Amino acid sequence: MSDAPRHSSDTRTGETIQLRGKTLLASGFHMPARGSVGELENALILVAEDGTIASVLRPQDPAYDAELKAARKAGRLATLPNGFYLLPGLVDLHVHAPQYPQLGQALDVPLEIWLHRYTFPLEARYADAAFAKRSYELLVRDLLANGTTTALYFATIHQDATRILVDTCLEQGQRALVGKVAMDNPGECPDYYRDVSADAAIDGTRVLIDYVRTHPSNAEGLVKPVVTPRFIPACSDAALEGLGALAAECGCHVQTHCSESDWEHSYVLQRHGMSDTESLDRFGLLGRRSVLAHAGFITEKDMEIIALKRSAVAHCPLSNAYFGGAVFPLKAALEKALNVGLGTDISGGPSASLFDAMRTAIMASRMLESGIEPDLPAHERSRRKGARIDFRDAFYLATTGGGISIDLPIGRFAPGCHFDAIAIDAKAEHGTIRLLDDLDRGEAILQKIVYTASKPNIAAVWVAGRQVSSSLTSTMGSE
Ligand code: GUN
Ligand code: FE
Repeated sequence: MSDAPRHSSDTRTGETIQLRGKTLLASGFHMPARGSVGELENALILVAEDGTIASVLRPQDPAYDAELKAARKAGRLATLPNGFYLLPGLVDLHVHAPQYPQLGQALDVPLEIWLHRYTFPLEARYADAAFAKRSYELLVRDLLANGTTTALYFATIHQDATRILVDTCLEQGQRALVGKVAMDNPGECPDYYRDVSADAAIDGTRVLIDYVRTHPSNAEGLVKPVVTPRFIPACSDAALEGLGALAAECGCHVQTHCSESDWEHSYVLQRHGMSDTESLDRFGLLGRRSVLAHAGFITEKDMEIIALKRSAVAHCPLSNAYFGGAVFPLKAALEKALNVGLGTDISGGPSASLFDAMRTAIMASRMLESGIEPDLPAHERSRRKGARIDFRDAFYLATTGGGISIDLPIGRFAPGCHFDAIAIDAKAEHGTIRLLDDLDRGEAILQKIVYTASKPNIAAVWVAGRQVSSSLTSTMGSE
């Protein structure tokens, strides 16, 4: 590693470090499997020309010294300076892209009122392409700067605005899965913001799928289309059925909300006589590439269905605190081997940072374990022993767990995975991580990163080997 003295003020902005065809010498952490932290110490990560990881060499590997020498000689060695830690890029499994303008607002009412009072009127504004462009450019830039290298996006019902979101992700280099929202049920959706019919919802989805798949700038498949019934209440049965058939036909990802709140969960029980999970399954909407947001009220049977279909849950702990009315039994889901990742649920969750989602997931699990009613003695307060997760689980969910949930080779450093990564500057003056050289080692460093990192600590972000957000440059120059 470079042992030149450094501080954040050493870094200059403006240039970027591209890693395709290069070898990166770096230390850091990843979590290839739940439970055990993988520590990289002076690892060499060989990034292929297509942005995937060709190999990861550790100092004890026989090929290490030769590769270090060869990369240096060929001028293709990039070195992450001392004090920086490489982590996998973060995977946000649930973002409402059009809601970014109301982040940190409007969380004073229950979900069913919030949608009609604040959210549908805001989303309807995306009929205006100029408004969409301005809003989406800001969102994607901010999410990249927060370390989110992959996002699963709900857009709006609009064709043009949804295309703008796709274009923006491609222009800024974010890995993204984008869905045109389908919502055609006049009983639950306002006249001013609704697909005019089930056919319009289905055909509009098909047109967007074609747009993404044939996009001239998307040859590498950085952006993928998603079949996106908003949630059962917003959709007619005809739309749900058609979208299930379309997902099967196109082999697309699917995203929706599932058993999010008491109102929503009860609505589906009344309308379909079964849970959201059972109903979505009946419509063919549960498959290996389906992501169910929230799932706070799923039953044991629902969990079994989700596990059987190998679908995933996007756990959104921030938003659940406002709309959920209960804490998602995350540990139980993990122990049933469900695929789970984390979502910010912008703007139902008032933070665009997956670090906040990690921390809130830990905190929510601790409160689920301890119980919350101070009038009760401790032994009666706690009804879910062992419900807690720790920083390792939270980090796993935001990286590898997210990648598995959407069936993409991301979230860890292994041959064949995309090189999507962030560099944490643990010495950033305006950051919030404070490491003590003589105290903090190994996993303890990762723990401090998970609990205390903030945007100024995120010095560089790469997607598929391309640097897409940066304050780190010259100290990391190629040798
Ligand atoms: N259910 C239906 N639409 C939404 C939405 O926009 N946000 C959340 N959190 N839940 C929903
Ligand atoms: Fe949501």
